[in-house]
Amino acid sequence: MHPGGTGSPVSSHGSFPAARPRRLRTTPAMRRMVAEHRTHPADLILPAFVREGISEPVPVSSMPGVVQHTRDTLRRAAVEAVEAGVGGLMLFGVPLEKDPVGSRGTDPDGILQRALRDVRAEVGDELVLMSDLCLDEYTDHGHCGVLDARGRVDNDATLERYAEMARVQADAGAQVLGPSGMMDGQVGHVRAALDAAGHQDVSLFAYTAKYSSAFYGPFREAVASSLQGDRKTYQQDAANAREARRELALDLAEGADMVMVKPGLPYLDILRDVAERADVPVGVYQISGEYAMVEAAAEKGWIDRDAAILETLTGFTRAGAGLILSYWAVHAAQLLTARR
Ligand code: PBG
Repeated sequence: MHPGGTGSPVSSHGSFPAARPRRLRTTPAMRRMVAEHRTHPADLILPAFVREGISEPVPVSSMPGVVQHTRDTLRRAAVEAVEAGVGGLMLFGVPLEKDPVGSRGTDPDGILQRALRDVRAEVGDELVLMSDLCLDEYTDHGHCGVLDARGRVDNDATLERYAEMARVQADAGAQVLGPSGMMDGQVGHVRAALDAAGHQDVSLFAYTAKYSSAFYGPFREAVASSLQGDRKTYQQDAANAREARRELALDLAEGADMVMVKPGLPYLDILRDVAERADVPVGVYQISGEYAMVEAAAEKGWIDRDAAILETLTGFTRAGAGLILSYWAVHAAQLLTARR
C-alpha cells in the first residue's frame, strides 16, 4: 500500500493529496497565527511573601529569584507587576512570632494586613489584590488550622479562626481571599462572615482541589514553616480524581467566585476536568517545587529556562486554566509581551 518511491505521500482515500499538517508549522508567524491557545499577562497572578522584622529582602534558597520581601520591597514588586501587565498579586505573610492559634494572622496590625494596606495604597486597583487565607504561616506547629486536645486539626474551630482572618484581611484592602486550608465548609463559613461584616464585594478564590504534595517543599522555607509531619488528613490524596468533583460541587454551592487546582503539572487532568465542569473562572497554582525544578535544571544548563517556563504556562492554558498563579508571573508577562 505505502508507495515506495519518492514524491508525495499518497492519501489512503485514493486520489486526494495527503494532508500535510507541517504546512502550518513552517514559520514563526504561521505558528503564531494558528495557535489555539495563548496565555495573556493578565491571566497571571504573582504569589509574594512579606516578612515581618527584616530590613533587607531575604532570598529563598530553594527558589532562586524569589525573596521574602520587606514591606518596602513588596511595594516595589507590586509596581513592577503592574508595569508588566500581571493580573493579580497573592500575598503571604511571614510573622515574627508564631503560636498555636496563629494570633498574628488575625491581628489587624499583623504583617500581612499591613502589607495589604501598603500595596493597596501603592497600586490601587491597577491589579487585583489577593491574600492567602490560611493559618499555617502563623501557627507554631505549622498546620493550616488549630489543633484539638489530641493534636488533630480541629475543622470547626479552625473555621472560626478563618472567619476572623477573612474580616481583617478584607478590612485591610484585600479584594480576593484565597482559602487554602482545605477545611470542610471553609468557603461557606468565610462567605457568611464577610457578608455579615459588610464585605459583600470581596470575592473568594477557593483552593478547591488541593492535593497533598511533595512539591510544596520550597514553600515551607519561604514561610519559615515549622511543620512536622504532613497535611494528609486535610489535603487530597494524589490517587483521587472523583473527589475533586465533590470538592468542586461543595465550593460552588458554598459560594466560591473562582476555583483553583493545585499543584499544576502533576494534576493537569484534574484541571481539565474542573475547567469543563465549573461555571466560574478556573485557576491553577504552579507551586514552589514546580518552580524549583525548572530553575535547578536550568541552572545546570540542562534545559532552556524561558522556553520551559512558557511551555508550562501554555500547558495550563491549554488544559483550561484562565488564571495561573506563578512565581514567574512578572518574568513570563515580560516574555509574553516581547514575543507577541
Ligand atoms: C497554605 C498554602 C501552601 C501553599 C500555598 N498556600 C502550603 C501548603 O499547603 O503546604 C503552597 C504554595 C507553594 O508551594 O508554592 N497556606
